[in-house]
Amino acid sequence: MQANAPFKLPQPEAPALAHSERVAAFLREQIRAGGGSISFAEYMQAALYAPGLGYYSSGTRKFGEQGDFITAPELSPLFSRVLAVQVSSVISQTGSGSILELGAGSGVLAVDVMRRLAELDSLPERYCMLEVSPDLAERQRSYIAAELPGEFSRFEWLDQLPVAFDGVVVANEVADALPVERFTKSDAGIEQLRVAVADDGFAWLRAPAPPLLAEAVEQLERYLGQAFEPGFTSEISLALPAWIDDVCSCLARGFVFLFDYGVSRRELYAVDRTSGWLRCHYRHRVHDDPLILPGIQDLTTWVDFTAIAQAASDAGMSVAGYVTQAHFLAGGGIDAELQALADAPDSDRMDLLRQVKLLTLPDEMGENFKCMGLARGELAIPSGFAFGDRAHVL
Ligand SMILES: C[S@@+](CC[C@H](N)C(=O)[O-])C[C@H]1O[C@@H](n2cnc3c(N)ncnc32)[C@H](O)[C@@H]1O
Repeated sequence: MQANAPFKLPQPEAPALAHSERVAAFLREQIRAGGGSISFAEYMQAALYAPGLGYYSSGTRKFGEQGDFITAPELSPLFSRVLAVQVSSVISQTGSGSILELGAGSGVLAVDVMRRLAELDSLPERYCMLEVSPDLAERQRSYIAAELPGEFSRFEWLDQLPVAFDGVVVANEVADALPVERFTKSDAGIEQLRVAVADDGFAWLRAPAPPLLAEAVEQLERYLGQAFEPGFTSEISLALPAWIDDVCSCLARGFVFLFDYGVSRRELYAVDRTSGWLRCHYRHRVHDDPLILPGIQDLTTWVDFTAIAQAASDAGMSVAGYVTQAHFLAGGGIDAELQALADAPDSDRMDLLRQVKLLTLPDEMGENFKCMGLARGELAIPSGFAFGDRAHVL
């Protein structure tokens, strides 16, 4: 057993600490019920989504400057406006399309996309939301009702994926929020990193990998053409292929836009990446100890875009493009959207330029964030995928 190292972060306020202690008590109970340990995927699932307790399921502020991290649609309406033009190009081909947004967070992307679609006279029949967190779904409803009262009747919150959906599916930073397993290679073989109770919180526990995880890691090794070296530690999301299969299977015709930070499988499991890609966000600080501050910090991993492409292809969809966020925004016309916003009478041009830089510079969100487009049916590929396609690296 290996105790987690102390890490210096801003001190949480008393109510946040009290909430985290309730989440910790819930996790200790799960661990007790699990016979002394749980898999990291179970820990992550509970820490993020346990009803009323998990990071996304309790009422704390997560997004934006007052929260723990900032996403592209929270950073700037330019992101959503470019996406809206891309969505419009698909809807105009499918004729009667709707939009389905997965994991919409605060609802800001939905509002900005619909505003731009209204300007383009291209409003969808329905804008459906599927959100696992009841708390966030409620916040989305209030925000959209306040911002878009005239279009509120087009919105619908779903409990599950629809059947034979026709239109466009959008998900920004959802795949990275799915639970992952952690594994390590030792002389004994593939081991699962599990979570146990320690005197001062939680600690890692190594155990032989259960068959499903061992088989998934062996498959990775076969794909990469070499076995991982002893000591190599990383993550794998067993939930991701199933989620992509479900999303693709619900689409009768149309297009999926998936945005996330991630890389190809070969980059994700490069030999020198010996401790994985798991990251924790707390008040705009990034660190790598997921066992502290349960329920009040975000847990996330970089996404295996090869896994997404494979699962989509298995579900009968084609990869229409895989580009960096910078390429997507450039191909999708961020210059025209910038011009339109900058021309507005009350515009803050310097702030808009700052937003463009953060969205597109390689060291900011421009390169680590990717957009993957998945298509079902004969559709012209949206212009966001016109430059810099990297599908060959998948
Ligand atoms: C990192 S946040 C991103 C929020 C928002 N899309 C944005 O860009 O600001 C992840 C979101 O995905 C939601 N989520 C996680 N798993 C999900 C799933 N399987 N289906 C739908 N939403 C999910 C979370 O509750 C949360 O709203």
